[in-house]
Amino acid sequence: MKIALFENETHKVYKFTGFEDSDEVETNQFLIVDGDDALLYEPGGSRINSLLFSEIASVVPPQKIRYIVLSHQDPDVGASLNFWAVSTEAKIVLSELWARFIPHFLSKSLVAGRVIEVKDSGMRLKLSNSEIVLLPAHFLHSEGNFQIYDPVSLILFSGDFGASFGADYEVVENFSEHLKFMEPFHKRYMPSSFAIKSWVNMVRQLDVNQIVPQHGPRYVGKDMVNNFLNWAENLKPTLEENPDWYKLP
Ligand SMILES: [Fe+2]
Ligand SMILES: [Fe+2]
Repeated sequence: MKIALFENETHKVYKFTGFEDSDEVETNQFLIVDGDDALLYEPGGSRINSLLFSEIASVVPPQKIRYIVLSHQDPDVGASLNFWAVSTEAKIVLSELWARFIPHFLSKSLVAGRVIEVKDSGMRLKLSNSEIVLLPAHFLHSEGNFQIYDPVSLILFSGDFGASFGADYEVVENFSEHLKFMEPFHKRYMPSSFAIKSWVNMVRQLDVNQIVPQHGPRYVGKDMVNNFLNWAENLKPTLEENPDWYKLP
């Protein structure tokens, strides 16, 4: 399924979702198109690639994809990379921490000269007339982790941060009701309140109209974005509340 998140004459943003079998974690995939260039963020697992390919082809020829950006190393983010490396000439963009893990996904000849290793401080990618910002989001949850901010659509693609599981709606309307789908995951998978607070401080400096995670519904509008940031900065990770874990069984 394709959902248009933003469209004007030259700049378009799409979310693709709903391709998985019931035993797989449901994921969101994203395409940003500016002019003649496209960027694919979080291409997803290997069983959805032909479905995603045809959905993308309905928007733009997949050969127009200049960049494939992975937030981090998880299989639900990039297990399909071999397919996309064969099907496009896109550069593969990910944390320098994970660059040497990429040859485990696909053959060395496919990777040669195509990987952009992102330093911890992040970077900006030129996409036709726009500029896409790769935001540091380390330890949320992966130790080398990048989100995407699109200054044209004012969308922050937040990877696993903000993810929820089991909600059957597309947009969060009632934030406190939504917490039951989101909070247990964040308490367990986000290990550091220092990382979360630092991230919230960074995001508050941006003009964000929408936060769109890799799993589950999105947070639309300034009020809902603020609800999310206020909740996040007060979150207590399970790890910090359970020093007793590290005992011999
Ligand atoms: Fe993950
Ligand atoms: Fe994920």
